[in-house]
Amino acid sequence: MEKIIILDFGSQVTQLIGRRLREINVFCEIYPYNKVPALDDSVKGIILSGSPCSVRDANAPKAEITTGKIPVLGICYGAQYLAHTRGGKVEASNTREYGRAILRKVADSPLLKDISPKTQVWMSHGDTISKLPEGAEVIASTADVENAAYQFKDEPTYAVQFHPEVYHTTEGAKILANFALNICGCKGDWTPDSFIETTVAELKAIIGQDKVILGLSGGVDSTVAAMLLNKAIGSQLTCIFVNNGLLRKNEFKDVLASYKDMGLNVIGADAAADFLAALKGVTEPEAKRKAIGRLFVETFDKYARQIDGARWLAQGTIYPDVIESAGIPGIASKIKSHHNVGGLPEHMNLKVVEPLRMLFKDEVRRVGRALGIKEELVSRHPFPGPSLAIRIIGEVTEEKLAVLREADDIFIRGLRGYDCAGMGFPSASDPREMATNLYDAIWQAGVILLPVKSVGVMGDERTYENPVALRAVVSTDAMTADWFPFPYDFLRDVSNEIIRKVRGVNRVVYDISSKPPSTIEWE
Ligand code: XMP
Repeated sequence: MEKIIILDFGSQVTQLIGRRLREINVFCEIYPYNKVPALDDSVKGIILSGSPCSVRDANAPKAEITTGKIPVLGICYGAQYLAHTRGGKVEASNTREYGRAILRKVADSPLLKDISPKTQVWMSHGDTISKLPEGAEVIASTADVENAAYQFKDEPTYAVQFHPEVYHTTEGAKILANFALNICGCKGDWTPDSFIETTVAELKAIIGQDKVILGLSGGVDSTVAAMLLNKAIGSQLTCIFVNNGLLRKNEFKDVLASYKDMGLNVIGADAAADFLAALKGVTEPEAKRKAIGRLFVETFDKYARQIDGARWLAQGTIYPDVIESAGIPGIASKIKSHHNVGGLPEHMNLKVVEPLRMLFKDEVRRVGRALGIKEELVSRHPFPGPSLAIRIIGEVTEEKLAVLREADDIFIRGLRGYDCAGMGFPSASDPREMATNLYDAIWQAGVILLPVKSVGVMGDERTYENPVALRAVVSTDAMTADWFPFPYDFLRDVSNEIIRKVRGVNRVVYDISSKPPSTIEWE
């Protein structure tokens, strides 16, 4: 399969380069800068990412690649790296240039084909390329940066100082398409349908007549993984959906019914009472997580044992969990632990199959839609494995769960019911900018039940009850997140409805903390 290789020098937005390429149906893979894969015929081009480093540092990251034959595009640090290594000059500039700039084309280039003569781009750099290498010519400039884009005259090597991968670069997607489709000659035929076709064939080949088990969570990833396997191996797949007693209102019943409608072979493992018993008296967040994790494994194991001769465990692992970080000191690792599946007992002795390991979250959704999965399931927000237990601060009890479920249900229904078309959103990189209701515009939302009491008045009576906090964030991968700027009327209405209808709650607050330094969940 033809592809583009992206070498990651540690930029925060490297993954976006991958996503933009996938959006134009070009397959690509991201590697740390120091782990360049074999460049066989399938590799049509290389993109060098941005970086928090400076090429002038003694230990600046270096990539072992040869320019000149295979098309190369350097972005930000990548552009400076190409200039620096080919004999140009990169210097510290007086002001760190950050934000919008207007790019002006100054020469013809296939990279800027059909780009407006003046177009908005997004800059984020401290160093500047003060002199281009021999054989290179400038193709676009901004008011502050002369060498904002350049190319080498007799070879397919290009560089841009700005970030074409972020949404603020208005014609960035077109620039990346020019590189991938015109310069590299990719066909752009990597679609959800072609992914399904090749993946189903691969799954059939590797699994053969074996039996497979899969833990369904109700989330998008495990659901899409299950449907792909179902298409490939049908009744050889058994899914286990565990009720941990900590799910949202009606979730176990409703989601189980949807799974059965979809033709999946699902065991509904109702272990609610065991989970609640294990959580009795437990208040510390990590202790809760451990208790829930242990019980999840025990429950899964108990039901999996009933499936004779299972050889494979299928998981809904997705690409952001797999991509290795560039390993630059001081840059947080992007690898997330798999909370839900970590530590399945070794005696189960299962081989692991991960059909979604090359997909980004929005691609999983596209594949889900192409597989005919209901929109309601495809567009569901992420939900943590420990479920509502980490949204009840302190000990988890049936009573608190009942209160939280009602408040959460009002909040989530409110999000789905609020028409937000044309509102405009704060995130530069959120693909759900086009959403028509608040639920779809938000990455993840939920309610947290707080362990304090405050005084209120309802009718003629004094109340002394708990507050709940609403949490709603935009994000692309949950590694960073921004709180969502709700319209006031939405906050007013949802607060009124929760306080009026949910017994035990007399105050609603909205969490306006971003991640970092806060996290999405409170525990
Ligand atoms: P935080 O709270 O770390 O969450 O900002 C990032 C994302 O991970 C989810 N999350 C979890 N998911 N088990 C999970 O399966 C967990 O223990 C867990 N803790 C947080 C969280 O909901 C968000 O999507």
